[in-house]
Amino acid sequence: FTSEKYPDIQRDARFSSVTGEHVKYFKDLLGSGSAVIDGVTNDAAADDIEPFNGDWMRKYRGHCKLVLKPGSTEEVSKILKYCNDNMLAVVPQGGNTGLVGGSVPVFDEIVVNMSRMNKVRHFDEVSGILVVDAGCILEVADQFLAEKGHIFPLDLGAKGSCQIGGNVATNAGGLRLLRYGSLHGSVLGIEAVLPDGTIVDDLGKLRKNNTGYDLKQLFIGGEGTIGIITGVSVQCPQRPKAVNVAFFGLESFEKAQLAFREAKSHLSEILSAFELMDEHSQALVHRVTKNKRPLEDSYPFYCLVETSGSNSDHDSEKLQAFLEDVMEKGIVTDGTLAQDETQIKALWAWREGIAEALGHLGGVYKYDVSIPLEEMYQLVDDTRARIEAAGLLGDTEEHPVVSVVGYGHMGDSNLHLNVSTRYFDERVEKVLEPFVYEWIAKRQGSISAEHGLGLAKKKFIGYSRNETMVGLMKQIKNLYDPASRPIRARQHEPTAVWRKRL
Ligand code: FAD
Ligand code: MLT
Ligand code: ZN
Repeated sequence: FTSEKYPDIQRDARFSSVTGEHVKYFKDLLGSGSAVIDGVTNDAAADDIEPFNGDWMRKYRGHCKLVLKPGSTEEVSKILKYCNDNMLAVVPQGGNTGLVGGSVPVFDEIVVNMSRMNKVRHFDEVSGILVVDAGCILEVADQFLAEKGHIFPLDLGAKGSCQIGGNVATNAGGLRLLRYGSLHGSVLGIEAVLPDGTIVDDLGKLRKNNTGYDLKQLFIGGEGTIGIITGVSVQCPQRPKAVNVAFFGLESFEKAQLAFREAKSHLSEILSAFELMDEHSQALVHRVTKNKRPLEDSYPFYCLVETSGSNSDHDSEKLQAFLEDVMEKGIVTDGTLAQDETQIKALWAWREGIAEALGHLGGVYKYDVSIPLEEMYQLVDDTRARIEAAGLLGDTEEHPVVSVVGYGHMGDSNLHLNVSTRYFDERVEKVLEPFVYEWIAKRQGSISAEHGLGLAKKKFIGYSRNETMVGLMKQIKNLYDPASRPIRARQHEPTAVWRKRL
C-alpha cells in the first residue's frame, strides 16, 4: 500500500506485517510491562502509540502498531535478529527530536525506542572519557558531567529530550561545534547492533587508534541505516570556569561577516559560539514569547557571541574590548553583555527559541544548508523574493506564508533557512523546491549540513553527492543490511536504499 501522507512512496511488499505471534515473542523477551506497547493485538493501545508515530514538527506520521523499548544491548540484538529473520522492518528512535522525518515510521515499521537504555556507564575523571547508554538524554549526561567539572562537547536546543545515541546517529552539530568540533572527532567508541543481530563492540576509549579502518565513523551520521547504536564513549572537555555572552545588532550581513572575523582575532582561543539571527527570526520569537527584546532598536541582523575560558574577569574584559572595537569601527551598531547566569540564559533563548517559535503558527519548511560564508544569507533574500513575487507572503489569512527567516551557526557557515506557514498550500512547496536545492548545488554547498537526510531530504541527495558517492553509500548499506537490499530489477531506484528500514 501507499500511505495517504506519502503517496509517492510504496511500502516494500517483501516486508511482513506484525502478527500476534511476533508480539508474543517480543513480550516473552522484554516482559509484558511498558517495554512493549502493543497495538497489534490490543486496539486500546492506539493512543499510547501515537506519540511514537509522529515527529517533533507534527509533519511526518507513520502507522506503526508496535513499539519496543529494549533495556540492554543483548535485547536490541535479539529484537533485530528476530526482525531480520522474519522480514519485519524497524525504525530506531531516540528522543524523537529529529527534523527530517527520520525518527518515525513511514508505514508500519516497528519502532525500537531507546529510552530505557539511559544509564551513564562510566566516567574517568582524569581522561574526561564518558561512556553512556545510547538512550541517555543529552542534558542528563551534561548535568552529570557538570558535577565532575566537565562538559559534553555538544549542546543544542533539544538537549532536554534528545538522546546521545540520536545525536551520534545524526552527527548533530549544535551551538558549540566551533569550539569542540564535530562528533566525528569527540566520539571515541561505539557499541552497536547490526541488522542481523551481531553486536559490534567498538566501544574504545583511545584517542589514537589507526589499526585498520575506523568503522565506527559509519554509524556517526548514519541515521540508523546500518545498525542501532547502544553505547557511546565520548571525550569530554573540562567545563569552562567562565562563560560570557554578548548579543549585538548589525546593519548588514557584510557587517556580520566582519564581526566574525574580528571575533576570531580578538577572542581566539576563548571563542566558543558565534551565532547569527535575522530580524525576521527575532520578531517571530518576540511574537510568540512576548519577552522584552535584548536591544532597544531593531536591526536587520543580530549575532550572539559566547566565550568560554578559565578567568571570568579576563574573558569579560576581552569581550568588552571586542565589542568596543567593533562599535568604534562601525561594524556593530548596538550590543549588550550578559551580567550573570540568568542574563546568559535569556540571551541564548533568543537564539535557541527560534525553532520552537517557527512552528507556533502552523507548519514549517526547513532547510539546513552549508554554503560558502559570503553568500550564506543571499539564499534567504532570494527565497523571500520568490515567495513575495508569487504573492504567498503576508499578514493576512489568504497568505499561507507568515515569514521567511534565516539564522544559524555562522561560525560553521551553516544556515537555517525556514519558511513558516499558517496552513499547507502546495504552491509554497512548488516555489521552494527544487529552487533551494538548485541554488545550493550551484555553489557546491550541502543540502543537509547537520540534520541529516531522513525522509525529508533523501530524494535530494544528488544535489550534494555525486553518483560515485551515492553508489558507495549503497554498497555500504547493502553490506551491513543485506536483507533489505533492493531486488535486482529495482536496484536503480535511489529511494529504496534510503528507506528507514534495517
Ligand atoms: P531521533 O530524533 O529520535 O532520531 C534521529 C535519527 O537518528 C533517526 O533517523 C533515528 O532513526 C536515528 N536514531 C536515533 N537513535 C538512534 C540509535 N540509538 N541508533 C541508531 N539510530 C538512531 N540538530 C543539530 O545538528 N544541531 C542543532 O543545533 C539542533 N537543534 C535542534 C533544536 C531543536 C529545538 C530540535 C527539536 C532539534 C534540533 N536538532 C539539531 C535536530 C537534531 O537532529 C536532534 O535534536 C538530535 O540530534 C536527534 O536526537 P534524538 O535522540 O531526538 O533522535
Ligand atoms: C538550530 O540550530 O536551532 C537547530 O538546528 C534547529 C533548527 O534548525 O531549527
Ligand atoms: Zn542548527
